[in-house]
This record gives sequence, C-alpha cells and structure tokens, in this order.
Amino acid sequence: MPDDPLRVGVVGVGVMGADHARRLAGRIANATLAAIADPDRDRAQELATQLGGVRVHADPLELIRDDGVDAVLLASPGSVHTEQLLACIERGTPVLCEKPLTMDSESSLQVIEAERAAGRSLIQVGFMRRFDPEYMRLKQLLDSGRWGRTLLLHQTHRNLTVPNPHFRSEMIVRDSLVHEVDCARFLLGEEIASVQVISPTPTRHALKGVVDPQVSIFRMASGAVVTNEVFVNSRTGYEVRCEAVAETGSAIIGRPSSGIYTTGVGPDGGEGTWGGGIDPDYRTRFERAYDIEVQAWVDASRRGELVGPTSWDGYASTVVCTAGMESLSTGAPVDVVLRAPVTRT
Ligand SMILES: NC(=O)c1ccc[n+]([C@@H]2O[C@H](COP(=O)([O-])OP(=O)(O)OC[C@H]3O[C@@H](n4cnc5c(N)ncnc54)[C@H](O)[C@@H]3O)[C@@H](O)[C@H]2O)c1
Repeated sequence: MPDDPLRVGVVGVGVMGADHARRLAGRIANATLAAIADPDRDRAQELATQLGGVRVHADPLELIRDDGVDAVLLASPGSVHTEQLLACIERGTPVLCEKPLTMDSESSLQVIEAERAAGRSLIQVGFMRRFDPEYMRLKQLLDSGRWGRTLLLHQTHRNLTVPNPHFRSEMIVRDSLVHEVDCARFLLGEEIASVQVISPTPTRHALKGVVDPQVSIFRMASGAVVTNEVFVNSRTGYEVRCEAVAETGSAIIGRPSSGIYTTGVGPDGGEGTWGGGIDPDYRTRFERAYDIEVQAWVDASRRGELVGPTSWDGYASTVVCTAGMESLSTGAPVDVVLRAPVTRT
C-alpha cells in the first residue's frame, strides 16, 4: 500500500456532497480532501473556505482531470452521473458514486461496459446501508443459516417531510425505495424477480397528486417475499427499520436505541413524555454507515481494489426501480429483467 494519503475530489457539494466533504476533511484516515467541484461556485467556495486548503473547480470534468486528484466521490444529481462516471473510467480513477448509478438501465449498462473495456472495476455505488453495523450483523445472521431459510423481509423507510415543491410520486420509488431494493438484494443474496407498488389513500400532508405512503412487494428469485413501506411525509422523523423472518427465528434492526431512558414535558410544555428522539434525516441516522463506507472505499482504492456494491448492483437497482415506477402507474406486478452479463465486474 502506498504511504501517501489518497487525494480525493468531491463532485457536487449539495446536502450529501458537503457532508462527505466534511467527513473526508475531518474523520477519514489516509485521505485528504484535495478538491471540490460544483457549478454553484459560490456554494463550493464557501465550503472550501470553511474546510481550508481545498481547490475549487466550477467544472466537474476539470476536477476529474485534475492531476492532484487520485479518486472521486460523486455526489452530483443522478442525471449527470453517466458523463462523469465515463470520464473517471477513461482516466482510470476510482469512484464512489452516490446512488443512483445512472437514471436508466441503458446508461447503467453503458457504464458497466466502459468499466469492463477499461479492464478494471473502478466504481463503488453509495449504498451505505451495506456498511451499517446492524445491517452487517443481520446479513451474517441470515447467511449463517441458523434459522433456516429467510422467508420474508419487512422494510420500513420514513422521512420527516419533503421540502421539494416539485416532488413527484416516482421519486419515492427512484430515490427512496432504491435503498430497500439494494438491501433486499444484499440481505437475501439474490435478485428481485418482480415488483408491485400499491398505496392507501395518500396522507393529507402529501403534495397534490403525490402518492404517499407507498407499499411495495418484491418477489425474490428464490420465492422469498419482501414488503416495503416508504412514507416520505410521515411527520415523525427519519426511520429505517427491517425485520427478517426465517423458518425458526426473526430479527429486527433499526429500532431507536439511545441507551438512555428519558422523561420530560412535551414540546408545548404540556403533558410529560418518555422515550428518546428520532433522527431528523439520513445524515445522522446513518452517520456511522457513511463513515465506514467512505473509509472502506479509501482503503480499498489505496490498495487498487474495490469493495462494496458494484456497478452491477447499481444497474440492478435501476432496473428494479424502473419496473417499480411502471407498477406505480398500474398497481400490477411488473417482472424485472436484467440484461447485463451475469458475471459481476
Ligand atoms: N446515500 C444516501 O443516503 C443519499 C442521500 C441523499 C442523496 N443521495 C444522492 O446524492 C446525490 C446528491 O444529492 P443531494 O441530496 O446532495 O442533492 P442536492 O441538490 O442537495 O445537491 C446537488 C449538488 O450538485 C450540484 N450540481 C448540479 N449539477 C451538477 C453537475 N453537472 N456536476 C456536479 N454538481 C452538480 C448542485 O449545484 C448541488 O450543489 C444524488 O445522487 C442523491 O441521490 C444519497
């Protein structure tokens, strides 16, 4: 392993990219935050000033071509990932690409093929739950076969609220359910054969025309079934839980566990309440998972290796979500057909 720290460039420094930039600047070993890029130059400059010693590029492709950048963390909108991933592959630069890999299956296949032609796997997709200690323990438990076959997963994914005034029902599938898609494939170690999305009468807190919450059902290749609730205007907080049911046992992860039992008056000064808080968003709920994910990526990149979810996993999740968006409009199950070569990169 080379002694020098990995010089990382972060592309896109909105909510997620700024969080990763701070992580790289402050908490990740054997890495330095060398550069950031964002077309919103003022935003990038403000962050660079806060963090100190970081070059700023307005053009993301310029950052990717920067000789002082060894690896790229892509946190730009999914709609621009294809071009930026292809530029990284062309230079042989390792990338941690926030989900989604790309917006549709054709462009995901294009990325897989480019990576293959380059002769080296370079892309890790940012499905950080695979690095969350509880998800890792659940995976080990299920893989041990101690309780026989896993029959069911029940996954819950709630957000406090959605500030975006242009939010649409499809975004629940593409941006939120995609994490449940990857968790189902990861925990059960197999592909999703079909997906069906149904919904109750929407919450009054949803924007007009937005179907929220949504319940989706995955039928896995082996016959296991996964139920998912995604509720983005839950008004409670960011809650992500999973229960796995096997033949002779079950396990739940993601229950709040501050370890401290508290009592106090309610926010309006009224009746007493008990219990702990609920994380407001993913950055605190999965802080440890992001730290472990980015550290694992840095360590693997310095060794010239790849760990975690690959471009194949990114492609597979994109195909499932595309089928999910079709089901959202009809309510009927839609088959998932993966067309990439089965050999993983
Ligand atoms: N893993 C997770 O839990 C998680 C959570 C949230 C977001 N994400 C993903 O992270 C990515 C960014 O999401 P966000 O919530 O930070 O969005 P955001 O809108 O807060 O930030 C996006 C940033 O990208 C910049 N940008 C716009 N066009 C660009 C381009 N062509 N090249 C580079 N940057 C460009 C914008 O100016 C903005 O600063 C998305 O792919 C999203 O799906 C992942």
